[in-house]
Amino acid sequence: MNIIRRRGWEIPESEITPEHLVFSRRKLLIGGAGALALAPVLGAGLAQAQRTTDAANLPDPNAGLYPAKHNDKYALDRPITAEKVNANYNNFYEFNSSKDVAEQAQALPVRPWTVKIDGLVEKPIELDADDLIKKIGLEERAYRHRCVEAWGMAIAWTGFPLAKLVSLANPQGSAKYIKMETFLNPKVAPGQRQPWYPWPYVEGLTMAEATNDLAFIATGAYGHPMAKQHGAPLRLAVPWKYGFKSIKSIVRFSFVEERPKGMWEKLQASEYGFWANVNPKVPHPRWSQATEEVIGTGERRPTLLFNGYGEFVADLYKGLDGERLWA
Ligand code: MTE
Repeated sequence: MNIIRRRGWEIPESEITPEHLVFSRRKLLIGGAGALALAPVLGAGLAQAQRTTDAANLPDPNAGLYPAKHNDKYALDRPITAEKVNANYNNFYEFNSSKDVAEQAQALPVRPWTVKIDGLVEKPIELDADDLIKKIGLEERAYRHRCVEAWGMAIAWTGFPLAKLVSLANPQGSAKYIKMETFLNPKVAPGQRQPWYPWPYVEGLTMAEATNDLAFIATGAYGHPMAKQHGAPLRLAVPWKYGFKSIKSIVRFSFVEERPKGMWEKLQASEYGFWANVNPKVPHPRWSQATEEVIGTGERRPTLLFNGYGEFVADLYKGLDGERLWA
């Protein structure tokens, strides 16, 4: 990928193995002269695929926790984006680089889902995501969501404050950052077969950011468990930062001393940095951030400093003037 000339988000479809080639290869296998001989092999393959699908679709033992009690501390200045719109306009590069990724993301098996908590902690632990959710409990919050690509939405997430996971982990005093990692499974995620991306997707926050009440681990949206394209079963929501910080489908939380490098920062540090706080006055190197398109209505609104969450988070950045806080 030529990351200098192209936006990180704009990998042309021509660089992805075209779907019709995948399908025509399958047709060849099934319809060719060797079809009979291949039948038992294909049968085994289908059984395997069926098992994977079944595991992915096991009933959610926490389904009864939705809808969770609404926390109205974080009021919105705009209506919630229609679920149909939100669930069909996504960034999930593990599957493909277009916004139309919902169908492909359904291939992700989300149950069982093991979450590792390690690094500078008293005792590293591995937990089943369903057990973690049950243990911590859920609430609902409506957040704005602002992508670095200059569009925005509003979502009713269900989940829990990241601070609760931090206190469960009991990190050592030397931990300065929390590093989060998405699953790595190129078998189900075709985007992860594209070697020019430094998979797995990684993101990080300072401990002060992670323990700010606004930092949220979302497990559901719109009053039900999370749709896969939004990053089931656990995704971050840090609404004062550009959307690429809100890592999806997390499998690992590590407490570390060194500042983690996110996937986009590794690809193009001049455009996607560690802090990535929303600021209308600091343009992206290739476009303005002064306004944003409201997805679903097409309306254009002025971008808000910290995406409108300054009263809750601005203090986190006092004394950090030498840092590139806005991109
Ligand atoms: N997390 C992973 N693992 N993979 C991704 O491609 N895209 C990011 C973020 N988290 C992404 C991710 C970007 S660029 C944005 S804007 C949001 O997810 C999009 O979240 P949404 O699809 O729920 O709107």
